[in-house]
Amino acid sequence: MQYIKNAELTRLHGVSDKAVRNWIEASLNGKIDLELIEIEGKKYIADSLHNDVLIERLVQKGKKYRNKRAQKTITPTQEFYDLYSHSQVIEIANSLDKHREVPSHYRYFGKGAIYWNAHLHKFYQASKTNMLTATVELLKLEKGYFDSILSNHEFVNLVDLGVGNGLAARDLLAYLKTTGKLKKYIGIDASKDLLKITERNISEWFDGDIVTEMHVRDVSHEQFGETISDTYDTDASSTLNIVLFLGGTIGNFREPSISLRAIRESLGKDDILITSDEFDNENARKFFGSANLETFTNVSLRNQLLLELLGLDDSMYEMEHIFEEKIKSHLVQARLKTEVLINIRSLNYQKQIFLRKGERILVFRMWEWTNNELIELYEKNGLSQLRMTKLPNNEYVLLVSQVNTSLNHPIAR
Ligand SMILES: C[S@@+](CC[C@H](N)C(=O)[O-])C[C@H]1O[C@@H](n2cnc3c(N)ncnc32)[C@H](O)[C@@H]1O
Repeated sequence: MQYIKNAELTRLHGVSDKAVRNWIEASLNGKIDLELIEIEGKKYIADSLHNDVLIERLVQKGKKYRNKRAQKTITPTQEFYDLYSHSQVIEIANSLDKHREVPSHYRYFGKGAIYWNAHLHKFYQASKTNMLTATVELLKLEKGYFDSILSNHEFVNLVDLGVGNGLAARDLLAYLKTTGKLKKYIGIDASKDLLKITERNISEWFDGDIVTEMHVRDVSHEQFGETISDTYDTDASSTLNIVLFLGGTIGNFREPSISLRAIRESLGKDDILITSDEFDNENARKFFGSANLETFTNVSLRNQLLLELLGLDDSMYEMEHIFEEKIKSHLVQARLKTEVLINIRSLNYQKQIFLRKGERILVFRMWEWTNNELIELYEKNGLSQLRMTKLPNNEYVLLVSQVNTSLNHPIAR
């Protein structure tokens, strides 16, 4: 009978020389029954069909053992299951599985809402221009325009998509109140915690004198038209809806076009959509939308919350911030230092997600568009630009859009 050299076995099966020697040793001790051949006093593994089958099994067993040792099996915390509903848990699991990404709106739940509220207060008070102060300033510059469109309507609703803590909309709300035409402030957000904070703030700022309504919706794809419908107690066309989409929220979505189409379908013919965003520029790239008011460590801390809830401790990954040229986006991601198996269970749903060492989990993205790219994005999704206002530094922009009602508008497919 022929034999197979140890070196040949290591090459064929990707095992170490020591593993082959262990197999021979185990066969000699009767622990496994590989057929051996002795040549000049040395034992070798025989080249037989019996051995082929056995070696294959030993290799597979060794692999499983190696994986188990290197791999960390984790489960999400109780807080994770308390914070997210059954369907949200499934959405997070699916997104992790398919895209290695946690959808960005889940960062604003629970403690995340408290962090975000504190962050917005800090930005509001900062002397350096940032996304929030720029938004407030740009809305102020539009006052003449608001006067003009309101003169054609008896009533107005302010609909706020992605409320934050209400600070961005505060001055505009105060102005609309003075017109005597304001029906409701309608807050729409994925985070019920931020909706609560905003509702409390508005009540405090205006002594409970503004009618507010809060709705939980995922504006990355859900429509919201029906949330406005019960405000039409008179002829609907006498009410103008001003819909705010402020603070660069559109840039956080994986597929911004899906969101814009849902918004377009939710708007009435005369309604206006007001977006504020930060353009792609050297500062934005360098300071990552934080206007240099925050260190990357701070930004990371806010974004690490979800990883913690999923059961990942910070020894398992390294946070990194990159600018991905191909998709012109800032990405904050956790690069895994070890193999991880995440076990997610909710009611009858179970999913095991295996992530290799070196893979990344994306926790935050921010698209950076130039002037033309932003307009093109809106236009191709059936939203025409009525106005575009910028601050002198050309970094921050306010877009006023309306549904393109032309019958042959070529909506992107
Ligand atoms: C960047 S902040 C902007 C807050 C505020 N508009 C401002 O300008 O200060 C994003 C806000 O949008 C909400 N948000 C993010 N993604 C969302 C989604 N997919 N659906 C609904 N709300 C979302 C967050 O909860 C948060 O309130």
